[in-house]
Amino acid sequence: MNERIACEKLRGRIMGAADAAALIASGTTIGMSGFTGSGYPKAVPLALAARIEAEHAAGRPFRVRVWTGASTGPELDGALAKAGGIEFRLPYNSDPIAREKINRGEMDYFDMHLSQVAPMAWQGFLGPLDTAVVEVSGIRADGSLIPSSSVGNNKTWLDRASKVILEINRWQNPALEGMHDIYYGTALPPHRIPIPLVRASDRIGEPYLRCDPDKIVAIVETDAPDRNLPFAAPDASAQAIAGHLLEFLRHEVAVGRLPATLLPIQSGVGNIANAVLGGLVEGPFSGLTAYTEVIQDGMLDLLDAGRLDIASATAFSLSPEAALRINEGMARYRDRMILRPQEISNHPELIRRLGCIAMNGLIEADIYGNVNSTHIMGSRIQNGIGGSGDFARNAYVSIFMTPSTARGGAISAIVPQASHVDHITQDVQVIVTEQGLADLRGLSPKQRARLIIEKCAHPDYRPALADYFARALKGSYGLQSPSLPGEALSWHQRFLETGSMLERS
Ligand code: COA
Repeated sequence: MNERIACEKLRGRIMGAADAAALIASGTTIGMSGFTGSGYPKAVPLALAARIEAEHAAGRPFRVRVWTGASTGPELDGALAKAGGIEFRLPYNSDPIAREKINRGEMDYFDMHLSQVAPMAWQGFLGPLDTAVVEVSGIRADGSLIPSSSVGNNKTWLDRASKVILEINRWQNPALEGMHDIYYGTALPPHRIPIPLVRASDRIGEPYLRCDPDKIVAIVETDAPDRNLPFAAPDASAQAIAGHLLEFLRHEVAVGRLPATLLPIQSGVGNIANAVLGGLVEGPFSGLTAYTEVIQDGMLDLLDAGRLDIASATAFSLSPEAALRINEGMARYRDRMILRPQEISNHPELIRRLGCIAMNGLIEADIYGNVNSTHIMGSRIQNGIGGSGDFARNAYVSIFMTPSTARGGAISAIVPQASHVDHITQDVQVIVTEQGLADLRGLSPKQRARLIIEKCAHPDYRPALADYFARALKGSYGLQSPSLPGEALSWHQRFLETGSMLERS
């Protein structure tokens, strides 16, 4: 393992995870690495959770505030939440145990735009950062760090924290070295300058993370895989959504609104997004680029098929098979992948400049095209807004995708009024379900409503939506975005009372 630590003077700081966790005090804030289950610390959070459990058993309260890049793995969010050790969490969570704690009101959660975390930390709005716990794949002789399978906010945590705990993970492929592009040119206003990136393939920084060696208080060696979840094979609904979307892209090229190589693709996570990427493998597009948050299985397929020239992101999000594939072929992929800090991968200035094609999932959309990405029935958090807001508002074209129903048809994804809004109608240009695609660009609210009901709603819900809209046109206070406030959320109420949005006659 020592070959991963080329800096002689730092070798003396190697210790066990329990000793490193003992350096963290209750009530402090920890900036951890980790983004969609890759590159998160795997030993120190587990040891910290064990310590918290022991403290709680002895009747002593012990809780910490946890910041990360995005979601992590069960050894971090799951273990700390289970121990009742997280007082406050930002900016994104998808762990089921932590989700339950948040929804029971036992854990505070600030769900925020991923591009804004680093600047907000620098602006001082988030308070002081006591400890950074960051996974890396090696330490170089000069003390600089070889990043791991995600970059996330690591640059900021290493800069801002008073002390640093490193995990050196031997499981991470040494060939990761050279893949990263860490840009150190960001500053706070009034000193901000344009970010010199004009193509997804541009490298504007350096391959290593800087870190003051004097701040490093512990180095923990690990050999544990990232949390890589298998992808389900795309079902009929995902395939239909992918089909509509590919048809749309072909049409946009045909009418000259997109070049034949498209524009840089941003793809959200999950099976539908993966099905869309799978569809792109079949053609007809080539010379593609991706400027996105995560590199997932479908991107590897596109690279292997010679369709994708470059994938720029902040992290990997791979199935176990794809992780193996990438680990074995890292040298082959390295020149066509770039991992950047999330403030750059998700930067509004760059997304707008590059003209990304943003494709994200949604929980529900209303007939006017307002999108809820985060809250079930308006109050229960599912994951968080993640990068969807960074991309949706600034994209060349902002696309949202969903099956038209959830919970076996008991819920319509198209509703009279979204129970929570993350993306206002102006940031939502295309909605796709397995039923069809609604291109909302240039349409007024009433035109949008007719199109969404016709193209996207499930046939079981279409008549009730059309009926609501017709009555809203007669009884609304104003006729720009007709609504019946007393009735608009009644579908959600009905679900909460009966377990289904379908009206029973
Ligand atoms: N009403 C109530 N529940 C709903 C629902 C709706 N309209 N739509 C979905 N759900 C429930 C599902 O039943 C499922 O619940 P379960 O876990 O208890 O089974 C859960 O929400 C997830 O649904 P699923 O269909 O598996 O979603 P997904 O994996 O396709 O993800 C989002 C959809 C919106 C949750 C996901 O895309 C997300 O978190 N987006 C926000 C962040 C983001 O966009 N990141 C990418 C930016 S780069």
